[in-house]
Amino acid sequence: MTHHRILIEGGTVVNADGSQQADVLVEGETIAAIGRGLRERLPTEAIDETIDATDRLVIPGAIDVHTHMELPFGGTFAKDTFETGTRAAAFGGTTTIVDFAVQSRGKSLREGLDAWHQKAQGNAVVDYGFHMIMSDVNDDTLSEMDQLVAEGVPDFKLFTAYPGVFYSDDAAVFRAMQRTDRNSGLIMMHAENGPAIDVVAAELVAQGMTDPYYHGVARHPIFEGEATNRVIRLAEAAGVPVYIVHLSARDALAEVRAARDRGTPAFAETCPQYLFLTLDDLGNGFEGAKYVCSPPLRPGDHQEDLWKGLIKDDLQVVSTDHCPFDYQGQKELGRGDFRKVPNGLPGVEDRVDLLHDGGVVGGRFSRERWVDVISAAPARLFGLAGRKGAVAVGHDADLVIYDPNAERTISAATHHMAVDYSCYEGRRVRGRSDVVLSRGRVVVRNGQFQGERGWGRFLPRDPADDARRA
Ligand code: URP
Ligand code: ZN
Ligand code: ZN
Repeated sequence: MTHHRILIEGGTVVNADGSQQADVLVEGETIAAIGRGLRERLPTEAIDETIDATDRLVIPGAIDVHTHMELPFGGTFAKDTFETGTRAAAFGGTTTIVDFAVQSRGKSLREGLDAWHQKAQGNAVVDYGFHMIMSDVNDDTLSEMDQLVAEGVPDFKLFTAYPGVFYSDDAAVFRAMQRTDRNSGLIMMHAENGPAIDVVAAELVAQGMTDPYYHGVARHPIFEGEATNRVIRLAEAAGVPVYIVHLSARDALAEVRAARDRGTPAFAETCPQYLFLTLDDLGNGFEGAKYVCSPPLRPGDHQEDLWKGLIKDDLQVVSTDHCPFDYQGQKELGRGDFRKVPNGLPGVEDRVDLLHDGGVVGGRFSRERWVDVISAAPARLFGLAGRKGAVAVGHDADLVIYDPNAERTISAATHHMAVDYSCYEGRRVRGRSDVVLSRGRVVVRNGQFQGERGWGRFLPRDPADDARRA
């Protein structure tokens, strides 16, 4: 069978472990060759299409391991569907997402997972996998975990936040961790002390402090640091790795660093909002609702600590926690009580460029480290190595032809996420995805969508080998 062949010529291939001037030959859905002067080695008729990558970087498609398409939350639903959300992701150079399927209270993991398959299948424009949010930990759900690991859904998110919604107590967290010691799954933790936060939040509201800003005040960094330490210690007691999601504060980072220094396989991600936005964004009256997420945005002096965490590998991954709610009609549910603002920010489209601008252009880290935190490390930690996360022969041809010098202004007027505002409105960034390929197919070219609804496939993933090896 002959495959469509695309030659990507004249670019700089950037992987997490090094860069080289090289052409890339794509054959069908995979990368067939990487090297200089590939054109001379192939008969002209063997090349169906050429993409000029002169002055461009050729990077592995980015992987966002934390998204919430259509999440039911805060009395409403996150606005992006798998179609609109993965389309926006593709525009921003992200060619794989791992979304959180939800087990609703009293229902099985299976029902939750089936529902997420239904949402995604036939709709996603790039490949996707699932983690599972566990709302109940009991004998039934614990035994279902083993089955999900076997089906390629090997990670389970539990929450020490959101009492009455997703909250698990210490016993539940510990039991789920013990189970992963047997089934090789990975526990992902939302680590904030929800019960303590609720006490402070109720006190603030009772005193008339109801604006979104007080969402940030109630969810003090100490509450994140405490819960991060607690769940890491529980993982140590259970003898399993643990992954802290959306780490926002230096208090929590210090706990991850200390754990890693004593040899614990503790891993963590941060998100662009914690690197680029601050508690001040939550001010400005009710406008601050646009920035309500949990953990909340922190005072600006936490940001350089997080960047250092990325430089030193105490933080391994940057994902988005993409969970978009319109300002009009959705965030407005919390007028008069910040506790009722749906929690979550849009961002799946912006991560690659923001991290290029703040990380590489900003002189904080190399372009190789950029590729690591947005693509290679997520692949390693989430069972996608060998398929995704590198420009390598035999890998899926998920590729981004990236212009590191293009400048653009982020705006809701031009973004592709199905949400009526941008957290980064007016911010200038340097770096832009010009051409994006998903499994050998051009899905975005020079600002035009050329993909197809339903092109994205479910990615069954191996248990997190890398987390266990560390
Ligand atoms: O505010 C957030 N982070 N919303 C999404 C749900 C979660 O906790 O990740
Ligand atoms: Zn969370
Ligand atoms: Zn989340």
